[in-house]
Amino acid sequence: MSEVVKLERHDEVGIVTVNSPPVNALSAAVRGGILECIKAAIADPAIKGIVLTCAGRTFIAGADITEFGKPPKPPALNDVLSEIENSPKPVVAAIHGTALGGGLEVALACHFRVAVKEAKLGLPEVKLGLLPGAGGTQRLPRAVGPELAVKMIVGGDPIGAAEALKNGLIEEIVEGPASGGEAFVRKLIAEKRPLRRLRDDDSKLAAAKADRSIFTNAVAAMTKKSRGLEAPFAAADAVGYAIDLPFDEGLKKEREGFLKLVASDQSKAQRYAFFAEREANKIAGVPDGTKPRPVNRVAILGAGTMGGGIAMSFANAGIPVTLIETGEEQLKRGMGVMQKNWEATAARGGIPADAPAKRMALIDGKVGIENVGDADLVIEAVFETMAVKKEVFGKLDQYAKPGAVLASNTSYLNIDEIAKSTKRPQDVLGMHFFSPANVMKLCEIVRADKTAPDALVTAVTIARKIAKVPAVVGVCDGFVGNRMLAQRGKQAEKLLFEGALPQQVDAVVTKFGMPMGPFAMGDLAGLDIGWRSRKDRGIKSEIADALCEAGRFGQKTGKGYYKYEAGSRAPLPDPEVEKLIDETLLRLGRKKRVVSDEEILERMMYPMINEGAKILEEGIAARPSDIDVVWLYGYGWPIYRGGPMYWADTVGLKHIADRLAFYAKETNDPSLEPAPLLKRLAAEGKTFASLAAASKAA
Ligand code: 3HC
Ligand code: NAI
Repeated sequence: MSEVVKLERHDEVGIVTVNSPPVNALSAAVRGGILECIKAAIADPAIKGIVLTCAGRTFIAGADITEFGKPPKPPALNDVLSEIENSPKPVVAAIHGTALGGGLEVALACHFRVAVKEAKLGLPEVKLGLLPGAGGTQRLPRAVGPELAVKMIVGGDPIGAAEALKNGLIEEIVEGPASGGEAFVRKLIAEKRPLRRLRDDDSKLAAAKADRSIFTNAVAAMTKKSRGLEAPFAAADAVGYAIDLPFDEGLKKEREGFLKLVASDQSKAQRYAFFAEREANKIAGVPDGTKPRPVNRVAILGAGTMGGGIAMSFANAGIPVTLIETGEEQLKRGMGVMQKNWEATAARGGIPADAPAKRMALIDGKVGIENVGDADLVIEAVFETMAVKKEVFGKLDQYAKPGAVLASNTSYLNIDEIAKSTKRPQDVLGMHFFSPANVMKLCEIVRADKTAPDALVTAVTIARKIAKVPAVVGVCDGFVGNRMLAQRGKQAEKLLFEGALPQQVDAVVTKFGMPMGPFAMGDLAGLDIGWRSRKDRGIKSEIADALCEAGRFGQKTGKGYYKYEAGSRAPLPDPEVEKLIDETLLRLGRKKRVVSDEEILERMMYPMINEGAKILEEGIAARPSDIDVVWLYGYGWPIYRGGPMYWADTVGLKHIADRLAFYAKETNDPSLEPAPLLKRLAAEGKTFASLAAASKAA
């Protein structure tokens, strides 16, 4: 008998239970166990109907991703599903938690499905660079129609039980999965209800067979944001086979598409990213079993750009917030921005109509830092000056609850220094959110010298609770993300002095897959901030300075490195900028040369990787994959390229080190000299990934 799947009989009902923690993924053992138990239940004459359910926190969450890329082990999932679908006795999937990927495909092969009301059902394979490979693209359109199927398969987001019920994906919402499933089977047996095999039911495909635009319009809507990705398009094709081909042929074509994607570089990178994100939850050097401190209320200091967005993230997760400002006016403005933001989302149908009011009710606006007393976590998002931060943290000593975690959202300032202004440095750390904070998923958790392990675990845990992706980093200027970005920025600026244009540089970067190039990003953030800071520090950057002197501050003034038409954020190349650059170069006696796209790409990416190597060497990031997580979730690094460190491994570290050394010499720039770690790995023919493997083994 299987270790991970068992069959019990409750008089005429056979209960097949999968129990393979943590998420009941379909490993070879689980596939084999299901097959064995279903066969046994079919063979048992006392059993008249079968429930397939799961123990633990969730229904089957999909194929076992760790098996991809290894030689396949029998039984094949499709064979297990045929056995279920062909059963002469009704098989009912009883779902709780998440029925995802192969898990939902198992459920779709059952004759009926029931679920608890919190359950989520989805085919997220595209997010791993795959398409559903066990009939999902053929059975789901037959269950819910091609429109919703395209939405779920090409988009990859799950739906809730209520929507599943409305669209015929499940039959009933039940109280408990096993008991509800059992009651449902008894009803089927009593009613002698005919079995519903989705493979034989084309009724929901009829409309799209008659009018293919139903399908193509759904695909067009769902692939709008799929630039550069292979899987969403292949997944859409596979749904098309359900409409165009008989079931078995469609299944075969789906399988071909799946096998092609499993072997693709994109899917490998996306699977790597999946595990990198989970690896980042494991904090190096924290004793096993360290428990987070409870967080029932959060106080946020500052209701500006960041404080407001952070407050929204907590309220979105149902966590009450005290939002604190220095005056009524600032508070009112901050609260107004949040309300408007939520109302706009509700108007687009992104959240229910009553959500804005409900979420606003979770935010208690207050004037004065003395109001932090109830909070278990305080996040400071006030002005970016050390003196102000120190004053604020000094006061927190007096007003914050003992044991409250005290976090700063500073982008660059030294958290050790900030911690010194309190008597409780063990409670101080950084929680560096990214703008817009209610949207961007990354949260760099900055571990200072004295940060207590349980404070760190608290920050990581709460970040996940509000649907952020945490990455633990150490103290340095700009932490991981902005520190690497600064190297790219420096080269971008230099390239203008050598003859490249902003639009040329940006085009190379966006073609690579980043959402924006450095100059469009500068225009978005505002060029005046850097200009002022340069003036304060007596630093010059002739082209950027000339732009600002001409009143070109970026999007907010309608022109910067680009020009913008009224009401539009689309950057348009501006001949005036070209002229201004030419004049500046002439004035400085610089000669222009033709800069190739290849050089631009190398000089945008390799210096960042070089900085990443330094970050690893200094222990600012514990693993190369943590750096990748920062870039994937904080800067829109294309997921199909895994992250900068992963990508560097695919390019080859020797090549990167050689090119950096070349540019260091060619452009007389010692900052481009390859970092010692990069040089060593290159010389040894190793990858960044080898470091992670080595540290795991140690
Ligand atoms: N295979 C192998 N391991 C998996 C897994 C899977 N499908 N899903 C999750 N895990 C592991 C995680 O790596 C993690 O391991 P760790 O504790 O050692 O780090 C552990 O399970 C718990 O995962 P999470 O930390 O993500 O737990 P959550 O409770 O936050 O989330 C979840 C649970 C929603 C199920 C989430 O893990 C998830 O989204 N999993 C992936 C689902 C998925 O993509 N399924 C499709 C797979 S492809 C497929 O099915 C192909 C088929 O069509 C043939
Ligand atoms: P902001 O200027 O929009 O907001 C700061 C707010 O803090 C203002 O509303 C101000 O009234 C308030 N404030 C000042 N002193 C206060 C005090 N003692 N108590 C309570 N409120 C006080 O600034 P922004 O952009 O929100 O930045 C805040 C922090 O977040 C800074 O440290 C910044 O470096 C960091 N950050 C900013 C990012 C961005 O893109 N804007 C990104 C990530 C971090």
